[in-house]
Amino acid sequence: MTVVDRTRPGRRGSPELRAGPQVADRDGGPPVLLWSWSLDELGETLRRHACGATLSPEEAARAARFRSRRTADDYVTSHLAARVALAEVLGVPSGDVVLGRLPCPGCGDAHHGPPGVLEPRSDWRISLSRTRGYAVLAALEGAPLGVDVEAPRALSVDVLADVTLTPAERSHLLALPAPAQLAGFYRTWTRKEAVLKAIGVGIAGGVDTIDVRADLDGAVLVRHGVGSESVEWLVRDLDLGHGLVAAVAQPSDSAGQVHPRDIFQSSLFRAGQNGD
Ligand SMILES: CC(C)(COP(=O)(O)OP(=O)(O)OC[C@H]1O[C@@H](n2cnc3c(N)ncnc32)[C@H](O)[C@@H]1OP(=O)(O)O)[C@@H](O)C(=O)NCCC(=O)NCCS
Repeated sequence: MTVVDRTRPGRRGSPELRAGPQVADRDGGPPVLLWSWSLDELGETLRRHACGATLSPEEAARAARFRSRRTADDYVTSHLAARVALAEVLGVPSGDVVLGRLPCPGCGDAHHGPPGVLEPRSDWRISLSRTRGYAVLAALEGAPLGVDVEAPRALSVDVLADVTLTPAERSHLLALPAPAQLAGFYRTWTRKEAVLKAIGVGIAGGVDTIDVRADLDGAVLVRHGVGSESVEWLVRDLDLGHGLVAAVAQPSDSAGQVHPRDIFQSSLFRAGQNGD
């Protein structure tokens, strides 16, 4: 695994690149579209607007398997909202968007690979993440991506660091002043999960072997993959407000800017606000 920081002068990599967005601007790839929403607010809005989107039988079955009603509601809200958001991008009614799972690149299983847009057929790839009260959807045309969001809560950083971080990440984290360790852990964790989701295997892809250089601010390049296939990923921290910690990863050769989108500005919701 090779990690190259191109975000700081005086370190390995291209010295003219000082920050994540500059890496993206220079490369001029397609944008990462990013929606984040409060699940309570969005659930209420979806209830007020008949969006025409329904869950697939697989999604309905998954929603029915959650033991907590709240978790099930959050899953349903996220998946209906994802249809509204993606319909706008794909130029179709939200009822025509079918979400499902792509085959797992690790084992080929059709049920636990990354999420995908099954209909209409396109090159768009998506990633989803939920934490207490909030959800994120990211979409990129022509390349895989992964997103992760977490609402930090108190936890035993040293215990978790032992089982989830590389030795270098662990030493860096535990050398931080105690009050900074929790934030440092979440930054490391969200970067890892973003890469492992982009690869498509989730945390089965070696959470304690991928080094995401959380000692570096800004965008970092991380090489990791499954089997013999290794890819260089561009990993960027996201500022979503509300005390959330989040990151997005994509292949470095597809690097474009991150474009935040507001789902409440989608034509469906705007039409409802105007009483149409
Ligand atoms: C993917 C994973 C890291 C998500 O963890 P999490 O922090 O609990 O949940 P998040 O809210 O951040 O993300 C959930 C989303 O991850 C996505 N996801 C699930 N499996 C994924 C995978 N293999 N690759 C990319 N994304 C995946 C799903 O879209 C899910 O959203 P949904 O529940 O609305 O469908 C975790 O579920 C995991 O590692 N699962 C194991 C996958 C597996 O079985 N791999 C076997 C390889 S052989």
